[in-house]
Parts: sequence; C-alpha cells; structure tokens
Amino acid sequence: MKYPFPADFVWGAATSSYQIEGAVTADGRGPSIWDTFAATPGAVRDGTTGAEACDHYRRYAVDVALMRELGLGAYRFSIAWPRVVPGGTGRVETRGLDFYDRLVDALLAAGVTPWATLYHWDLPQPLEDRGGWPVRGTAEAFVPYVEAVTRRLGDRVKHWITHNEPWCASTLGYLTGEHAPGRKEPAAALAAAHHLLLSHGLAVPVIRAHSPGAKVGITLNLTPATPASASEADADAARRFDGTFNRWFLDPIFGRGYPTDVVADHAAEGVDALAAVRPGDLDVIAVPADFLGVNYYTRHVARGPEAGNLPRVVEEPGPEGRTDIGWEVHPESLRALLVRLAREYPATPLFLTENGAATHDGPGADGRIADVRRVRYLEGHLMAVAEARAQGVPVRGYFAWSLLDNFEWAWGYAQRFGLVWVDYATQTRVPKDSARWYAAVIARGGVE
Ligand code: FCB
Repeated sequence: MKYPFPADFVWGAATSSYQIEGAVTADGRGPSIWDTFAATPGAVRDGTTGAEACDHYRRYAVDVALMRELGLGAYRFSIAWPRVVPGGTGRVETRGLDFYDRLVDALLAAGVTPWATLYHWDLPQPLEDRGGWPVRGTAEAFVPYVEAVTRRLGDRVKHWITHNEPWCASTLGYLTGEHAPGRKEPAAALAAAHHLLLSHGLAVPVIRAHSPGAKVGITLNLTPATPASASEADADAARRFDGTFNRWFLDPIFGRGYPTDVVADHAAEGVDALAAVRPGDLDVIAVPADFLGVNYYTRHVARGPEAGNLPRVVEEPGPEGRTDIGWEVHPESLRALLVRLAREYPATPLFLTENGAATHDGPGADGRIADVRRVRYLEGHLMAVAEARAQGVPVRGYFAWSLLDNFEWAWGYAQRFGLVWVDYATQTRVPKDSARWYAAVIARGGVE
C-alpha cells in the first residue's frame, strides 16, 4: 500500500443537526436562526429550508446501519441547542436530549464512536432576539446548555467539539449576511467572533466536569491563502486573508491573543477590533484543549487592489479544477496547511473534521451513482494527509463531509456533498461509488 495509515487512525464521516435532522417542531424543539433565515425570501438560493432535510430525526437507525455497513469507526454529528434548551436559556427539554441519547446508544451498539459538536450554527432564535452572538449573554447562555448535554451524554460520548467554524458563524452570519441571521454589521461580527471563542473557553471545563476522560477540542475552517502573484500588494492581501480567516481564531486559542497586524488593519479603518474583549477573556479562550479540528475544502488565491499591482501574472486554479460548488480542488494546500499547523502550533493532535466535494452525480440507468470526481477528491486529500503524517504531523483522524447529501445552507439542496445519495422525495438512501470506495479504504487502512 502506497499510503498506509496506523491501526488507531480514526476513520469517520460528519453531518450537522440542521442539515439533516428535519423534524423542526418535534418534541418541543424551538425555532433556530436557520429556521427564520431559510424562511426569508431570497436567503437560500433554491428557496428551501431544513424543515424536512434527510428526516434523520426519525430515520437515524437507518443511517446508523449505513455507517456500520461502511465500517465507519466514528461519526461526527451536532446537537441542536434549540432541541435541548428551546428558549435559549432556562427550561431543558428532556425529549430533545432523549433523541441524542437514542442516537448515541445506537452508534455504540453499532461499534461507531460518537463525536459530538455542541454548536453547528443553529442558535435558538430567542437568543438572537436578545442580540445573538454579538452580545456577551449568548456566550454565557452556552454554558448551561453544554452542562445539560454533557450531564446526559457525558458518560458515553468521550469526544466533544465545542464549535464548528466560528469564522463562518461570525463572518457569514453577521458581516456578509450570507448565513443566518443575515446581519451585515462589521462591529457586531467582530464581537460575535469573540463571544464564540469565549463560549468555547467557558464550555471546556464544564465538558470535562461531566464527561470524565473526554477529549475536547474546537473545529476551525482553515483556508490557506496563496498570493496571486509575486507583487507586494498580493502578498499583503494573502497576509490579511490569513490573518482574518485563520490566525484570528488560531492565535487566541493557542494563547497568543488576537494577531496584532489584523488589529492594526482594523484600527486603520477606524474599527476597534477588540471592543468586546474584557480583562481575563483571553485566558479563558486559551484553555488547553486536547486536539484541534480542521475543516479543509479549498485554498484562497489572494489578489490585492488592482491599481499599480504589478506584475499581473495571476496564479491559475490548479490542474484539478473545481467542484460543482465552485471551490478549487487543491490537495497540496491541505498538506502545506497541516505542516504549518504542526510547526506554528506544535504538539497538538489534529483531526480533519471535514473534507469533501460537492458533485451533482446522481443515479445512472442502473441506479448506480458513479461519483468519480468525489473519489478522486477524497483520494487526493487522503494522500495529502498521509504525506503530512510522513513529515511528522500528528494527524490522528479524518471525517469525510458528508455521510449524506443534505441541506447545504445558503445553497439549499442544490449542492450534494454526500457519500450517500438522498432522494428527498422518498427519503431513500443510496451509497454512491465514493461510499464503497471509502469503505474499502477503511477496511484496508489506507490508500493504494
Ligand atoms: C462547512 C460546514 C458544513 C458544510 C460544509 C460543506 O463550512 O461546516 O456544515 O456545509 O462546509
């Protein structure tokens, strides 16, 4: 085998609550910002919502059986805060917790290790009504929610991820407005990012208290920036992108505070990026974690302002093209990212908590789904992980995004990331060729 992985390497797949569960009013679930946002005309490209999605809330047993069939060692899912604390604060809804209890028991019975994410973007709407992540109270409200979840599941779930992609939750939610709650307020976005990180720091000791021996981490979406040319302007654009996208989250988590160059960029535009930071917050955020979750899909080619930006020789997309969502396929950037993380933030076990490709391939005449480009994508990125490991990078596991085709946020159902095809009209699941391929990789422990 050309790219072997160790026997204890974690092979998984990932999903998130709003993207697959449906059943948005079942068992006392309260509304989330994604219910509200998706119902807003024009917010989701195909006008759909997660109201039904993959109906996983009712069909979880079928999905767990699929995981067993594929030989998954681990399953990363998220818990919906509005199922557990429908009002955002206050009363805990036992029926919501019962669902995750059943799911966890089914996973364990199938030999699949549960990895639970506590926040994958479905904030209870009542908390947004009180200001959302830009207000400190939301970070404080996260703590009793996490306590309720970990008290109930902490005896059986031993892998916890506090947040999924705080860059997306803050920037897309509060700066560009592409995601829920759809606000476009630069100062609020910075405050949101801080409170997301603060709530991570506040949650870690609570998780440890209720889940003895648990491994706890946070998942960041990290996107390396390549300057489009050798010009100074492009190098600076790459620095800025890396600063706001990657270092803004990595540095405080690893105890270095917010990057001073980015703070200075904001100050030059008259913005105090640290307005929400209170004494002691950075210590809370820097709480030691057990691992870093890395979500990687693509790189960013950074181009500074055009005027006087010479030379104009602009970096072309890599030879492997783009997936159907338009993201460049660039596995080499994943290898480089992992090597960089191990060098700049050493001694932290890394897990690829998401990686995958959107392709439209559906059933052929024989019913088979030949998603060749997804197989090639996954293979290339697993090879990159193997190469990083060979360079000494402590990558301990890989979760394909996603187990199922699902509600792809602002794209609705128009983008399919699943290893398993979902026919939304009948809720039939059909493993694609990529699922069979991945099962063979897992069985063999590597890529040939
Ligand atoms: C990530 C999200 C995940 C999914 C993939 C395609 O940013 O964490 O929910 O939408 O992108």
